[in-house]
Amino acid sequence: MSGPRAFYDELAADYHLIFRDWWASATRQGDVLAELLHRAGTDPPATVFDCTCGIGTQALPLAALGFRVTGSDLSASAIERARAEARERGIDVRLDVADVRALPRVRVDAVLSCDNSLPHLLTDDDLAAAVRSIRGCLAAGGLFLASIRDYEALLRDGTAGVMPAVHEAGGERRIVGQAWQWTDDRRQMEINLFVLRQEEDGWTAAVRSTTYRALRRAELTAALAAGGFGEITWLEPAETGYHQPVVLARAE
Ligand SMILES: C[S@@+](CC[C@H](N)C(=O)[O-])C[C@H]1O[C@@H](n2cnc3c(N)ncnc32)[C@H](O)[C@@H]1O
Repeated sequence: MSGPRAFYDELAADYHLIFRDWWASATRQGDVLAELLHRAGTDPPATVFDCTCGIGTQALPLAALGFRVTGSDLSASAIERARAEARERGIDVRLDVADVRALPRVRVDAVLSCDNSLPHLLTDDDLAAAVRSIRGCLAAGGLFLASIRDYEALLRDGTAGVMPAVHEAGGERRIVGQAWQWTDDRRQMEINLFVLRQEEDGWTAAVRSTTYRALRRAELTAALAAGGFGEITWLEPAETGYHQPVVLARAE
């Protein structure tokens, strides 16, 4: 079992393997997020800070669309990989290592935290610290946009993981899936991420594990309200085309 820093440091080189085609998915995510930002009155060349950017799945396509993007993440290996992906595509972004609970003093039009990053913060205190830190990057009226898994639905359905998918790329096959273990109180889940890769001389398997908080929408809404945000709105995947529920909030 690893904390998020070690988990993502180890995963950085393989992160794209979770997707059938990482850059195609990143481009789709960028298009959907750009449309949501547009609806909220934020268009290129607005400044956007992705405070849990990982290898750049949202930050890079948004920069390619003309937003002035900066990104940060707890994982130095993820940031290194994001920089390499940006260089390879000629995308201009500034990327740094930072904890979302103690972000650098920047002032931007919008802050993003996508694809279930905030649930790595396991306590109310850590979540409150992150919200304070994000609020500090925005003037009144500035926008925060985050996406998290739909924990209400996952708990209701008793979901125990992500079914394995078989992907093929460059003549190599891989199988990716997750097995989850919920705590008795259903407040947290241990995820075990399996990546099996077919290589020239056979298959290799890697299993990496970390803990998520099963962050309910009401809990994130309350943390945002307590941390100086208003106009807090949740949007469903069916409305946005994004693969997770999205929350939008305005700095007060
Ligand atoms: C599921 S990944 C999503 C990354 C990226 N948004 C994407 O979609 O590729 C979650 C990210 O949250 C980052 N993270 C977890 N805890 C963090 C913290 N305290 N501060 C900053 N980043 C954190 C991880 O390092 C990881 O890159």
